[in-house]
Amino acid sequence: MDERNRAIFLFFVLFVVLGKPAANQPLLDVCATCHTDATCEEKTDGSGKVCNCKYGFVGNGRTFCQDKDECQIGSSKICGQHTTCHNTYGSYYCTCLAGYSPSNNLDVFIPNDGTHCQDIDECRVAGQCGEGGECRNLDGSFDCSCQEGYRVHNGAQPFHPPTDHALCKVVDCGAPAAVEDTVQVSLTGTTYGSVATFVCDEGFVWRRGHNSSVCAANGLWRGLTLVCEAKCGPIPFLANSEVVWHNRSVVIHRCMAGYHSWRGSNASLCNSSGVWETATLRCVEIKPPINHLLIHYERCLHWKAEKYEEDTEDYKVTYSGSRDYQTLFRDKGKRFLSSKADQLTLCLKLLPVTNYSITITALSAKFSATITTNTSLPVPPAPVVYYMEVETPAPTLQLQRSPNTLDPLSLYQVFVLPVEGIMMFDCSSPRSLDPSVKIKSSEEYITAQLSVRNIGTHINFTVGDGFFYGGFHNALLESGKNYYIILRAVSQWKTDSKSSCVLWAKVTGTPYVLSISLVSAALLVAVVILAAVGGYSVIWCIKKIR
Ligand SMILES: *[C@@H]1O[C@H](CO)[C@@H](O)[C@H](O)[C@H]1NC(C)=O
Ligand SMILES: *[C@@H]1O[C@H](CO)[C@@H](O)[C@H](O)[C@H]1NC(C)=O
Ligand SMILES: *[C@@H]1O[C@H](CO)[C@@H](O)[C@H](O)[C@H]1NC(C)=O
Ligand SMILES: *[C@@H]1O[C@H](CO)[C@@H](O)[C@H](O)[C@H]1NC(C)=O
Ligand SMILES: *[C@@H]1O[C@H](CO)[C@@H](O)[C@H](O)[C@H]1NC(C)=O
Repeated sequence: MDERNRAIFLFFVLFVVLGKPAANQPLLDVCATCHTDATCEEKTDGSGKVCNCKYGFVGNGRTFCQDKDECQIGSSKICGQHTTCHNTYGSYYCTCLAGYSPSNNLDVFIPNDGTHCQDIDECRVAGQCGEGGECRNLDGSFDCSCQEGYRVHNGAQPFHPPTDHALCKVVDCGAPAAVEDTVQVSLTGTTYGSVATFVCDEGFVWRRGHNSSVCAANGLWRGLTLVCEAKCGPIPFLANSEVVWHNRSVVIHRCMAGYHSWRGSNASLCNSSGVWETATLRCVEIKPPINHLLIHYERCLHWKAEKYEEDTEDYKVTYSGSRDYQTLFRDKGKRFLSSKADQLTLCLKLLPVTNYSITITALSAKFSATITTNTSLPVPPAPVVYYMEVETPAPTLQLQRSPNTLDPLSLYQVFVLPVEGIMMFDCSSPRSLDPSVKIKSSEEYITAQLSVRNIGTHINFTVGDGFFYGGFHNALLESGKNYYIILRAVSQWKTDSKSSCVLWAKVTGTPYVLSISLVSAALLVAVVILAAVGGYSVIWCIKKIR
């Protein structure tokens, strides 16, 4: 019943009570008729007694008094804000709503005793929202949300423990991801605020930026800005090599096929300042330790040493010479040489017209190379003659010589050259050793041919003694004629021949004053030898002197 209806009801009750005239009725004991929940009271106007329902009851006081529900008019009106009104038989009391506490600190109160219901600050109780939760006090309540670094689980925020099962859990970023070109060196954890520290990988240097990463509230690692710059750059290049294996800080090299290195490191390393420390191996073409072996000028060995630059190599050179024309002949020798050079020359004293086999051994490399060579036919040495000017018919001339290893290939020819007009003598021609072949050109002829092998160091030869020498007739010189006697030394091996000539004597048929002095004769001899050495067809002119 609302208040208006209640007012109407009360009015009606009053009308019933007051509207019934009681004038003609016998006077009743009013008090005896009062309801048990009523009291008998003097009327205020003094006109008698009246039954009034007790406090907390409503009714006519006689036939009915019923409990008055005081709470009906609203707890907030009766008990105050944030209260609950509890009706009791004939009375009522108040309690505070959940989330509020009575200011009298008792469970119940009645209105008008000064008690009011005040908000409870639930957040004063620590841990209300659990770990990582943030409590917010509300009027009569509270709610929870998650602190920075925490995230709500099993629900949404704000949440209300314990009715919600939601709770806050710390953010976990998990293991930090690998960052290219860096190495993680420390990690304080994986949850919010944890720090992971990185350093540059080998081969990289830290140019700028932060070297650490922090687990952020959003569950991601953040803050690493390490710049991995300036690595050592491209793999270093080594001539004639190839890369076997590499990573960013180490390169292993190897010589290409056909090349080798005696020593040196095969690894290039990227150092801390971003520079390659290049491998020291040097790849050189694989060649024999003795290479390009050649003979110069028939006696000088020339070769290229294939070795590590700064090494000294010891060489042993042995040679052995033999001759087809001298079965017992052997020319053997040995030389030692130590050198750092990579181009070497060694000149040997080799004998002429000999086949040599020369072996060079590089001792530390334990390598030998052999070369064969032959030496050529030299111009034979002219014997020392005692120049004479003598008279016909049979002058005896002398010569002296040094025995020579080429003696088996050599012979002496004695030419007789009549002195007539302009004379010409060619030392290198004719070559004929055959006595039957007449010298075509002039009056000159060979009067004797002596095999050098059969003569000693000293001979006396008599021109025109009538004997045969080597098949040539040593004919008597004509008296009255003048002659030049020329001695020619000839060496011959296979198709090659060399000769030298010397004026031995002038023979006069009739005595006259000689005009060729010893000195000038010696000069002529010199000219002849020189010309023969030069290998030209020598024309020797002797002017007739009157
Ligand atoms: C490269 O390899 C070497 C040898 O295995 C190793 O010590 C080094 O840590 C590696 N560097 C990088 C950057 O991988
Ligand atoms: C990270 O950087 C700081 C300076 O910013 C430096 O002191 C520290 O040594 C660095 N840590 C590492 C592991 O390099
Ligand atoms: C050198 O050897 C060659 C070939 O065997 C031979 O013909 C020649 O006669 C030899 N020469 C000497 C001087 O022995
Ligand atoms: C000597 O050697 C040369 C070149 O090595 C060769 O041409 C020549 O035939 C050789 N002569 C002889 C007689 O062995
Ligand atoms: C050559 O003649 C000289 C002087 O006439 C003489 O002393 C010498 O013994 C002779 N030599 C020979 C080998 O006959």
